[in-house]
Amino acid sequence: MKNICCIGAGYVGGPTMAMIAKQCPDIRVTVTDLDEKRIAAWGAGTPPIYEPGLAEVVRSALGRNLFFSTDTPKAIAEADVIFVCVNTPTKTFGQGAGRASDLQYFEKVARQILQHATSDKIVVEKSTLPVRTAEAMERIFHSGGGSVHLEVLSNPEFLAEGTAITDLERPDRVLIGGHETATGRAARHQLLEIYARWIPRERILTTNVWSSELSKLVANAFLAQRISSINSISELCEATGADVEELSRAIGTDSRIGPKFLQASVGFGGSCFKKDILNLVYIAETLGLREVAAYWEQVVTMNDHQQARFVRQMVASMFNTIAGKRIAVLGFAFKADTGDTRESPALAVCRGLAAERAAVVISDPHALDNARRELADLGPAVAFETDPYAAASGAHALAVLTDWKLYRDLDFARIFAGMEKPAFLFDGRNCLDHAALHALGFNVYAIGKRAWSHL
Ligand code: NAD
Ligand code: UGA
Repeated sequence: MKNICCIGAGYVGGPTMAMIAKQCPDIRVTVTDLDEKRIAAWGAGTPPIYEPGLAEVVRSALGRNLFFSTDTPKAIAEADVIFVCVNTPTKTFGQGAGRASDLQYFEKVARQILQHATSDKIVVEKSTLPVRTAEAMERIFHSGGGSVHLEVLSNPEFLAEGTAITDLERPDRVLIGGHETATGRAARHQLLEIYARWIPRERILTTNVWSSELSKLVANAFLAQRISSINSISELCEATGADVEELSRAIGTDSRIGPKFLQASVGFGGSCFKKDILNLVYIAETLGLREVAAYWEQVVTMNDHQQARFVRQMVASMFNTIAGKRIAVLGFAFKADTGDTRESPALAVCRGLAAERAAVVISDPHALDNARRELADLGPAVAFETDPYAAASGAHALAVLTDWKLYRDLDFARIFAGMEKPAFLFDGRNCLDHAALHALGFNVYAIGKRAWSHL
């Protein structure tokens, strides 16, 4: 194995390939993209995405065996293994709009591979795809009638943003799906040998292609389901005087349930959970599995509800009107340690606040450029401010929507002094010390907890 090519230099393609290049100095890795700006940034050793530790990994291999290019045909022709890592967003038009996966980018790449492959290759599905996409890809590959053999593997990515580098260095597992044929088994083995350079073999699972494709959608669905489950219980806690954090601890210590992904919040965000669940729902629907589809759709419904009720609670506790009131939104990224704002709950919350004619001021240490772009249509209804103290100055309320560590370390006495009174604080991440904030004078509302009010 000498040459790897990866098509798509985004949140997955860039970090994954940088890690392979770092761990396998003898393999030449070329990552390509249509987006010239992205490629230029990667190539300069300044990744176009914010991810802790990523720049160091990129720089460790850049120019040695890691290269970035816009010349996809050349990279395809030279590669032994091609990872396809393009975006597979939710379809916004036609059949399955709002649910199905938009496979146009993926299919274009399949056609490009067929056009430019001049020798046998392994083609790896790295993007998250509907189950049985490999079949469609193989049909395209076979349509050429040429003599080149293109063996399709599924190797979904499980990294989470913000922890991508540790996830890639020490993954819970790597999954490789291949066909139970001689060429399929050989290809699976070749890919396994790449990962085995730094990942213990017992963590590298091999399955058939369909299990691998479907496992990715199901893993995300199960993770998101846990968040929606605890969020549904957070509303019950608020209505009964139970505390959702105490509940998470009480149920999470049961080893059969486990403690992770039980953090109640304003809702889950990110480019994948919603899209992958809706894709699962769509697949179930098209197979006539109505109950299966309805079951999983509820995970998304609950998430939408959690975001909407956060805004409703803000309005209700601020005397049923927030028109003209300055509200400082602390955090816009969908989670801490990333600048990614795709499907961030902050989007729905800020839009909800703007619809109530509040004067919204958004602060975030890494996501303001994306926030500006995502909310451009709101015009002057929203403002952006890097400094959280400046954002909070003169505000009636703070809404914490991302659990950035820096928000825990803010000088809240100073912030309180500069705010309108009564001062409200809505903690959408349960990441602050509510008793201490209440003692400072704030009226504090958190998720799944009793209100700490002076009113
Ligand atoms: P992204 O949008 O950040 O990156 C995709 C890149 O592919 C873009 O830069 C785009 O320009 C490029 N591209 C599209 N068509 C191309 C073509 N024909 N030739 C060259 N480049 C092309 O997306 P992402 O977040 O990296 O996600 C990629 C896939 O990985 C998706 O299927 C996603 O579901 C999956 N995934 C994402 C994550 C995550 O944390 N973001 C984690 C696991 C899996
Ligand atoms: C998620 C999965 O964790 C990855 O395994 C997967 O590869 C990836 O999706 C993908 O396919 O894109 P990611 O979305 O980057 O990763 O981040 P998560 O840590 O899963 O968080 C997702 C959202 O859930 C965030 O908004 C986070 O704040 C929220 N969350 C998470 C909660 O509200 N509560 C929790 O207990 C955990």
